[in-house]
Amino acid sequence: MPVQAATQTLVGRAAELAALRAAVERASSGEAATVVVSGEAGVGKSRLVEELMRTARGDGALVLLGRCVDVGDGELAYAPIAGALRSLAAQVDDDELDAALGPGRAELARLVPDLAGEDGAPGAGPATFGKARLFELLLGALGRLGRRRPVVLVVEDLHWADGSTRDLLRFLVRAAAGERLALIVTYRTDHLHRAHPLRPYLVELRRDGRVECVDLGPFSRAEFAEHVAAILGTTPSPASLDRLLERSDGNAFFTEELLGAAGPGDLPASLRDAMAVHLEGLQPVAQRVVRVLAAAGRRVDHRLLERAAGAPAEELAAGVREALEARVIVPTRDGRGYEFRHALLREAAYAELLPGERQALHGVLARQLEADPEL
Ligand SMILES: Nc1ncnc2c1ncn2[C@@H]1O[C@H](COP(=O)(O)OP(=O)(O)O)[C@@H](O)[C@H]1O
Ligand SMILES: [Mg+2]
Repeated sequence: MPVQAATQTLVGRAAELAALRAAVERASSGEAATVVVSGEAGVGKSRLVEELMRTARGDGALVLLGRCVDVGDGELAYAPIAGALRSLAAQVDDDELDAALGPGRAELARLVPDLAGEDGAPGAGPATFGKARLFELLLGALGRLGRRRPVVLVVEDLHWADGSTRDLLRFLVRAAAGERLALIVTYRTDHLHRAHPLRPYLVELRRDGRVECVDLGPFSRAEFAEHVAAILGTTPSPASLDRLLERSDGNAFFTEELLGAAGPGDLPASLRDAMAVHLEGLQPVAQRVVRVLAAAGRRVDHRLLERAAGAPAEELAAGVREALEARVIVPTRDGRGYEFRHALLREAAYAELLPGERQALHGVLARQLEADPEL
């Protein structure tokens, strides 16, 4: 049975969505709000936040999204902030960008080239500038943008954030108190080992009375039944529903994966098996695409994929299409490449790589990136 596309209806989450919407309403009236959305991988954080972004956009808010990326041991400074600024550049015209960024535009364009003016190359000067300066520039820009309409800044997957991003968010929570800004962050609770820097950080944030927490749990049985029915298009028997609930723990993503690998009567032994079946069901070129992507991280530029996959363009295109149709990968928002549909799929694909294969792929990717850092 093919894996179903994610269903259109949002199952449950009425109270959580209401809390997020209330935060955006407060922000609209000039009282900045911060909401931290937590939950285990696959529980539905991104889906909830997408729903909020959609309704906020519909209500006229400016919605900026930045995602933290898993870069293993390395730290990619300000990756989600750069992402949010890119989404800004894609949504507002040059005049508004100019007005919002003011004199800082050229400086910020050094962090995000998309911000460079129509006539302007990024400003000259040092490639890095002080933290304090960057924070002030961003605060100023968010304040000016908020004069026109409320701003919703979403930072996804904070468990992968670098220290600079954490510092910036901490600064915004305090300094933007009077702005029309709703700051929404998400993080994975199952990803926080004991020494994870996010732990003390979250304790500190929570101590701040202005920060609200929304913790997402698994679906209730009724919600779970609704989710399964939406995926299958039919309602399974109570007995198979029970079995599926036990296996998936009411986790939205696990349920999708388990149902994708087999019908409810014939469940794979574990989620890992389900994901392995999902990945192994692909033809060799599509598998190669998935392997390159797993080694590259969660996303890969199409040109880098072309160079690293070592397959003729037509075969590669067919492989990419197959992986897209199997919903293992999805196009990135900027249209420049692909990413795993879910971080857990990347983890599963990465775990399937043999040690030698892993090394070889990292080597190929590193050589291509060295030859062309733009990728
Ligand atoms: N409330 C929901 N209703 C319907 N589908 C959901 C819901 N929550 C999550 N899903 C689906 O489950 C999968 C995993 O959800 P996602 O939001 O990516 O999880 P997380 O961000 O917590 O890791 C996605 O395919 C998503 O569309
Ligand atoms: Mg997510």
